[in-house]
Amino acid sequence: MDRFQVEGPTRLAGEVPTSGAKNAALPCLAATLLTAQPVRLTNVPEVRDIRTMQKLLQHIGVFLSSEPGAVTVEAREIGSADAPYDLVKTMRASVLVLGPLLARSGFVRVSLPGGCAIGVRPIDLHLEAFRRLGAEVTMQHGYVEARAGRLAGAEIVFETVTVTGTENAMLAATLARGTTRLVNAAREPEVSDLADLLRAMGARIQGDGTDVISIEGAERLHGAEHSIVPDRVEAGTYAIAGALTRGDVTVTRCRPADLKALTTRLSSSGARVKAGDDWLRVQGTDTLEPQDLATAPHPGFPTDLQAQWMALATQMAGITTVTETVFENRFQHVPELVRMGARIKLEGRWAIVEGPTPLTGASVMASDLRASAALVLAALIARGETIIDRVYHLDRGYDRMEIKLSNLGGRVYRSSFPTGTFPIPERTR
Ligand code: UD1
Repeated sequence: MDRFQVEGPTRLAGEVPTSGAKNAALPCLAATLLTAQPVRLTNVPEVRDIRTMQKLLQHIGVFLSSEPGAVTVEAREIGSADAPYDLVKTMRASVLVLGPLLARSGFVRVSLPGGCAIGVRPIDLHLEAFRRLGAEVTMQHGYVEARAGRLAGAEIVFETVTVTGTENAMLAATLARGTTRLVNAAREPEVSDLADLLRAMGARIQGDGTDVISIEGAERLHGAEHSIVPDRVEAGTYAIAGALTRGDVTVTRCRPADLKALTTRLSSSGARVKAGDDWLRVQGTDTLEPQDLATAPHPGFPTDLQAQWMALATQMAGITTVTETVFENRFQHVPELVRMGARIKLEGRWAIVEGPTPLTGASVMASDLRASAALVLAALIARGETIIDRVYHLDRGYDRMEIKLSNLGGRVYRSSFPTGTFPIPERTR
C-alpha cells in the first residue's frame, strides 16, 4: 500500500514526456491472441494494468517477453481460453480477451467484471455484438461463456457508444467470414491505434476514427510490430497541471490533435496554450475564467479528464458546472477535494464548483484512477502537506507520475509500507 506525500504550493515548469496510452496498449495486447506469430509492441507504458494484462496472457498460455517499454507476445497455441475472476476484478479491461479468444479458438470463458468505483459498467453491448456475429453466449456462476464455429460478419449497431465494446467487436470480426459493419462505433484515438495494429497484422479495416467501421474478415492474421499511440489522458493531466500551478509546462511526445476538447477550454479559461505536431505548452495565468463542461465520447471532452478539470475549476474565478454524462458515479474525488477546501456541490450528474478557493493540504483517499490524479494536482497547489493514500489506483494508469512531477519541480514523494502498519513516511527522493 503506497501513498504519496505532496508538499505545496509549487509552480511546475519544464518538459514532461508522454508515455504510451494504457487504453491503447490493453486492446493491442489482446489483439496478439489473434495470430500464432509474434507481435511486438513498443512504447508500452510501465503501469500496473499492463502487468495485469500480461499476467492474463500468460495464464492463457502465450510466450511473452518484455523489456522496458516493449512487449513481444507469441500466441502459438491457446492453452486456456479463460479469464479468471481474480484478474478481471482488478482490471475490467480483461474482458478485451473475449473477442480475440472467441474468434481464434471458438470458445471463451471470462468472469463478469461486476461493478466498479465509477459505476455499474455492464458488458451487455459486447455480448450482443458477439451474438450478432453468430456466437452463443451464456452466463453462469459469474462467468460469461461464448462459443461459435467460424464467426460470420454482420451489421452491429451499438445502442450507446462503448470504447472497449467497439474494440472487442472489431477484434472478433477480423477473423469472421465476410464483412462486419460497426455502427455508432467509438471514435476514440485508441480505437484507431488498435485498427492500425490489426491492419499491420493483415486485417482489412476501414472507417476507424468515424462512427462506422467496416471489417472484412480474413482467414488468418500474421505477426507485426507496432508502436502504441501517446497517452492523451496523461498528456492532458500534465497540461492541466501547468495551468493549475500557474506554471509553464511543455508536454512532449504527445498528439495535441487528440486533445482539442481540452486545449480549447484551457485557452478560453485564459491559460496560454501553444501546440506543435507532437508537443503542447501550457502557461498559467493569475486569473482563470470559469469554463463549464460536459463529458462526452470522443471528440468531446474525455470523462477521463473530468476529475482533473474539476481540480482546475476550484481556481476559476466564479461558478463552473461540470456535467458527467458517460459514467453515473464518477464524482468520488469531490468529497476529497472538499476536505482540501474546495467549494463543490453535487446534484446528480452535475457538480457546481465555486472558485477560486485556496486549498490546504490534508489526508485524502484515492478512490479510482483519474480521481487520484485530480487529488495529486490539487495537492500541488495546496498549502502544506497532503497525504494521498491508496495510490495503487494511480499506478494502474500513470507511468511513474511522482518522478515526472518531480522533474517539473513538484515535491511529490512516494512511501511504501505493508498493509496495516503506520510508519513515519520515508522519502524516496
Ligand atoms: C473505456 C476506457 C475508460 C474510459 C471510457 C470512456 C479503456 C480500457 N477504458 O472504458 O478509461 O473512461 O472508455 O471513455 O479503454 N456501457 C453499457 N454496456 C456495455 C458497455 C458500456 O451500458 O456493454 C456503458 C457504460 O456503463 C458507460 C458507457 O457505456 O456508461 C461508456 O462506457 P465504455 O465506453 O464502454 O467504457 P469502457 O470501454 O469500459
